[in-house]
Amino acid sequence: MPTFLVTGGAGFIGSNFILLARQNAWAKIINLDKLTYAGNLQNLTSLATDPDYIFVQGDIGDRPLLDQILQKYQPDYIINFAAESHVDRSILTPEIFIQTNVLGTFHLLEASLNYWQNLDPAKQKTFKFLHISTDEVYGSLAPTEPPFTETNLYKPNSPYAASKASSDHFVRAYFATYGLPTLCTNCSNNYGAYQFPEKLIPLMILNAVEQQPLPIYGDGQNIRDWLYVADHCEAIYRVLTDGRIGETYNIGGLNELTNLAVVEKICVLLNELRPCKNFDYGSLITFVRDRAGHDRRYAIDCTKITQELGWQPKENFGSGMVKTVHWYLDNSLWLARVRSGDYKIWLQQNYGDR
Ligand code: NAD
Ligand code: DAU
Repeated sequence: MPTFLVTGGAGFIGSNFILLARQNAWAKIINLDKLTYAGNLQNLTSLATDPDYIFVQGDIGDRPLLDQILQKYQPDYIINFAAESHVDRSILTPEIFIQTNVLGTFHLLEASLNYWQNLDPAKQKTFKFLHISTDEVYGSLAPTEPPFTETNLYKPNSPYAASKASSDHFVRAYFATYGLPTLCTNCSNNYGAYQFPEKLIPLMILNAVEQQPLPIYGDGQNIRDWLYVADHCEAIYRVLTDGRIGETYNIGGLNELTNLAVVEKICVLLNELRPCKNFDYGSLITFVRDRAGHDRRYAIDCTKITQELGWQPKENFGSGMVKTVHWYLDNSLWLARVRSGDYKIWLQQNYGDR
């Protein structure tokens, strides 16, 4: 069984990927995560006794730590999920986005290059570095423009998107300049279990259940292309195992929806699954000030990954949202701990001081 070094594996997509990887015995996993506000080891409690899962707390920008981990665990593949991921936070505090997404990725690339160059020839031949990125690097689409393909120009608009674009360029440069076997995926908006409730879908579910306002930025007509997180994780695995080195693959859900339509769908589901007498969750919808530089529309053309690797999403928005709303309704303790910051205390109690 191969060994994967996964960075940012305590976050939303990383933890879903690790759980799937261990369920399917794809690999032994080393999870390197700094445990920022977005990192939550509660997502991975089911692996507490799994001998093929190891957690290391640390920063992708910490070069000595990276060298030590690479030497100790000798990974076959590295998958870089670690990032600051929230656009609104990037508008308020852009510097940490440069620190982690740009400089952190750079240090991870440097350490990976040094490790790869010193591997024995057989292992060197099969080693891969997969960088997980976003459709936001391509900027915003007009209503009539076709979805993003891998050849679209990079036109990032938010500090988050600019930092991810920069990291993508470094990944590409390390392939072109040094021959490091890299791959990059650019994915649309994910939703599903374990997403931090600062992002649209979990925030709306949580607020609705508490009968708090559902704040929709601007006119609610901004469009995102939603992909169920397990489908993203499957796509990542396909790219990792069968993707062509040096290539980029776009991943999307074929679900272009306005934000208003997404929130209305959540309200309809909650009216069915958690009915309150004489109350419609839709009445909580509130239009608020728009996000600065708010991209109007994202949409992904995933022809390349479908044709080359045979991947396509299994869930449509309806089926994925039923699972997602159920998950948040059934995991109120997870939500309560995340919101109260309790999971940091839980972490100390279960893992001790670091
Ligand atoms: P997240 O914010 O939920 O998780 C990020 C994880 O990275 C956290 O566990 C955090 O502790 C960790 N981390 C942050 N800084 C670190 C550092 N310096 N060193 C080590 N670990 C660090 O993010 P997510 O939504 O799971 O996104 C994961 C990746 O996928 C990101 O690179 C993001 O850009 C990309 N992506 C996300 C989406 C989406 O819809 N969420 C879509 C496309 C691409
Ligand atoms: O497209 C991929 C990207 O999707 C990822 O790279 C990012 O890491 C991820 O956070 C996500 O970015 P968005 O900005 O699209 O996601 P967010 O959930 O923050 O917002 C989705 C849309 O909903 C966006 O148009 C802003 C809007 N919104 C968001 C929040 C939190 C609201 O209208 N109200 C809200 O309260």
